[in-house]
Amino acid sequence: MQVDIRDVSHGFELEGAPLPVLDRVSFSAEPGSFVALLGPSGCGKSTLLRLLAGLDHPSSGGVAVGGVPVAAPDPSRILVFQDPTLFPWRTVWDNVALGLEAQGILGSNRARVDKVLELVGLKGFDKAYPHQLSGGMAQRVALARALVNEPRLLLLDEPLGKLDSLTRLAMQTELVSLWQRARLTALLVTHDVEEAIFLAERVIVFGPRPARIVADIAVDLPYPRHRGDPRLAELRQKVLQHLGLAATW
Ligand SMILES: Nc1ncnc2c1ncn2[C@@H]1O[C@H](COP(=O)(O)OP(=O)(O)OP(=O)(O)O)[C@@H](O)[C@H]1O
Ligand SMILES: [Mg+2]
Repeated sequence: MQVDIRDVSHGFELEGAPLPVLDRVSFSAEPGSFVALLGPSGCGKSTLLRLLAGLDHPSSGGVAVGGVPVAAPDPSRILVFQDPTLFPWRTVWDNVALGLEAQGILGSNRARVDKVLELVGLKGFDKAYPHQLSGGMAQRVALARALVNEPRLLLLDEPLGKLDSLTRLAMQTELVSLWQRARLTALLVTHDVEEAIFLAERVIVFGPRPARIVADIAVDLPYPRHRGDPRLAELRQKVLQHLGLAATW
């Protein structure tokens, strides 16, 4: 789905004082594209994803998905939270089934739950409870819980942040093939410059709060990509420069 963010500003109030968080942010993402969002901690990346998910409304400017202004949450655009909370009293299967259950369509779609659990590599853990999972497995449940809705726009807020580095690499590759198979639009917030460049077709870099776009970099490499590709190293350097970190590398 096409994503259009037009001149979006947003802020909060902190102890009575206004806290501007997004400052006239504008960009569009093509249907089916994979865009990574990078920026310093606290600059407003999660806030932007929340606006796209319809969990909050911008102070000014317009947010549209598929050409339609975003008014409320919808199963076609799903946000995978930075800190996923699973319901501890529900099994893995029941946690993943939640979205379908809430829409009243679980009955005829039980196979969808099994399918996404297999996709994220949790087959055999469907009857486990969240406390019986590792952190990385819990995060994969959260991803499955989003995918079961077959979203057209997947909003990922550091979905791999808690994974150990080996699982993380495997999940990155998984994420690319999933995106390609489902032909969905993916917006990924990450702190990991390599991850952004390895996964996305385009990397948007934000400056410190209030976030503004400081760079919009095309990753002109076909998939499958190779981690050792010298072009990736060049792009990494370019992104780090925009983040003001080039001197440290
Ligand atoms: N509900 C809220 N009320 C008040 N302030 C908020 C609220 N949500 C976010 N903020 C503030 O908005 C700013 C941006 O927060 P946000 O979570 O979007 O940052 P972020 O870029 O996702 O950071 P990180 O990379 O650390 O996750 C922060 O300063 C935060 O304190
Ligand atoms: Mg965040």
